[in-house]
Amino acid sequence: MSKKICVIGTGYVGLIVSVGLSDFGNEIIGVDVDPDKVDMLNRGISPIYEPGVERYLKRNLETGRLSFSTDIDGSIQGSEVIIIAVGTPPKENGEADLSFVENVVKSIAANLNSYKVIVTKSTVPVGTNRWIKEKLEEYAPGKDFDVVSNPEFLREGKAAQDFFHPDRTVIGYESEKARDVIFEVYRSLNLITVPFVWCSLETAELIKYASNAFLATKITFINQMANLAETVGADIHTIAKTMGMDGRISPKFLHPGPGYGGSCFPKDTMAVVQTGDKYSVDMSLIRAVIEANDRQKSRMVVKLEKLLGGFSGKTIAVLGLAFKSETDDIRDTPALNIVEGILKHGGKIQAHDPKAMDNFSKVYPEVQYCHSEFDALKGADALVLVTEWNEYRNLNLEKAKSLMKGNIILDTRNLLDINLVREKGFIYEGVGRG
Ligand code: UDX
Repeated sequence: MSKKICVIGTGYVGLIVSVGLSDFGNEIIGVDVDPDKVDMLNRGISPIYEPGVERYLKRNLETGRLSFSTDIDGSIQGSEVIIIAVGTPPKENGEADLSFVENVVKSIAANLNSYKVIVTKSTVPVGTNRWIKEKLEEYAPGKDFDVVSNPEFLREGKAAQDFFHPDRTVIGYESEKARDVIFEVYRSLNLITVPFVWCSLETAELIKYASNAFLATKITFINQMANLAETVGADIHTIAKTMGMDGRISPKFLHPGPGYGGSCFPKDTMAVVQTGDKYSVDMSLIRAVIEANDRQKSRMVVKLEKLLGGFSGKTIAVLGLAFKSETDDIRDTPALNIVEGILKHGGKIQAHDPKAMDNFSKVYPEVQYCHSEFDALKGADALVLVTEWNEYRNLNLEKAKSLMKGNIILDTRNLLDINLVREKGFIYEGVGRG
């Protein structure tokens, strides 16, 4: 039987979960403190760019199964399942800031008018779900509820696909009653035989951090190998491809680049280190990954500066600002380091990104934002490719050559055909293509 669910927070995770669970037939009310956002969502407009999401949003609004509201109290009271999907941004010291979660817990405690299952979707440090349980017992003594940890593994740009076809669904739980409720919420996924991992609250919490820290480590490993490859004259793509043929390694997440960014890896790796520090457990590997990733981002700036012989008085075309393609998200994008490095040393920037220019211009208004990649290339001394948007993969090199003043290309994603680029008379550098 479908469930009445209140999703608190309509950010990235909250929005996808709301549209996804309503598509499964549940009745969803998405809650946010921002009335403009709620209004937008009720009109079927997505505040973020994410392929497919607006279609699901409109479809489920039309059925009446999905709506959005600022009324947190009424929404909690009318629901059996409360999903916490508010942000857990990093504090100065890398620790996850749980103040938004705590405020939500207070609201839930004040509105526990019947048995409810409280589901934590936000990525929270180990021990947080038990802390939520204790807080609820303290604020609402004697009330009937259960706490469930259900971490989210969505990738930006592929969120809808990931929601409807996850590799696995992880549920940390303590009561059979809650397990039955969650089983109903995800009935559609059970029907398509998605593996469910039923485990303790702490195990569920740590699965999420372990997965993200591992993927960040895998990327950092291949980035360092790429740096070595380019120095000794080896080709990282052949190396990565061949490593991936070993079933124990797998070919995924072995693509070298300018360093990982986004809303998860930088934040979650820092939180793992913080948790290790808290319990005096050695997390030196992850600490080294964080540092190496920062150096990888800086390395791109140094490479470009060397190719150009200094930035002063030079114009650089930056193609791609988002931390990856198919998103407008610029959180911790390597483009921030590259742009900062160029501007600091007296370079001028002409930038293009299909979706992320609005967000980027709020941080760097001094950059010249262009309508197309070709506008950005006009008169440029060098081109730096930062995001792997498909439209940059087939860049018209002849046109690029005729528009640019110089002939330097730094391809931080290895998007272009190295032989073709050199044939057209460019000085080309990628990552790990010795
Ligand atoms: C990630 C996790 O994949 C997802 O499961 C979790 O829920 C949130 O964090 P996301 O940040 O959306 O998702 O993007 P992802 O595709 O994982 O890429 C993260 C970063 O790693 C990007 O900057 C990307 O460019 C980089 N990356 C990824 C590489 O540099 N090389 C790779 O081989 C893969």
